[in-house]
Amino acid sequence: MASPTDPGRIDLGRRDEALLELMDDPDCDLGLLQRTYGVFPLVNGVVAGWGRVYRERLRPLLSAECETRLLDLGSGGGDVARGLVRRAARDGLRLHVTAADPDGRAHDWASARPAPGVDYRRASSGDLVAAGETFDVVVSNHVLHHLDRAARDAVLADSELLARRLVVHSDIRRARAAYAAYWLGTLPLARRSFVRTDGLRSIRRSFSADELRAVAPAGWQVVPREPFRLWLVRESGDRR
Ligand SMILES: C[S@@+](CC[C@H](N)C(=O)[O-])C[C@H]1O[C@@H](n2cnc3c(N)ncnc32)[C@H](O)[C@@H]1O
Repeated sequence: MASPTDPGRIDLGRRDEALLELMDDPDCDLGLLQRTYGVFPLVNGVVAGWGRVYRERLRPLLSAECETRLLDLGSGGGDVARGLVRRAARDGLRLHVTAADPDGRAHDWASARPAPGVDYRRASSGDLVAAGETFDVVVSNHVLHHLDRAARDAVLADSELLARRLVVHSDIRRARAAYAAYWLGTLPLARRSFVRTDGLRSIRRSFSADELRAVAPAGWQVVPREPFRLWLVRESGDRR
């Protein structure tokens, strides 16, 4: 039987910013939410392309002698943060990651998974700016599409203040093929977590390259990467 989320029924010609993700409901089922954090490493591993971000953008900045401090903003279950530290350690490079998320449920779940070189903070980008924190590099995964215009503008302004060298916000590029592939690939995960529903909603909320360019402030560059990724990048002179 056809469902309302079938790829053939969905208009992907425009962003659907009115769609809310189930995990954003403060009263959502905690068990399902925790299982969602548990599936993020699998989903992010398949779709988010952090190996490429690491090789192309982060590794060239790292050193074996001097520690680089990186902030993962909106870190959710913390899998991207832990993965980056693992990659750097394999390459003999010194990287410390602060994984920050203002959602106490995400913070609690991540904090129960300690990893060397990672510390978890229950904090928003604004909290970190207010605390006077700075980092060499700021990254995020799947945060931009999540935010309304005011929150997005604030996160981008905060990122500029927080990062001394580089910011990479990585997100989904909205496309019919991405939606269809995710719709099919996550069928087995449908009832056990929010990963399918929220992933499909995320794709519908996400940007095309031109849409992201239209809202990116001066000094930011939109870098489309296949398959179905957009990096919003800002490089600064080293202000150490
Ligand atoms: C869709 S989740 C992405 C989680 C994780 N990065 C991942 O890819 O699995 C978006 C996260 O951004 C967080 N967030 C929203 N606004 C934020 C802000 N201003 N600063 C830091 N995190 C924020 C939310 O609490 C949420 O956990």
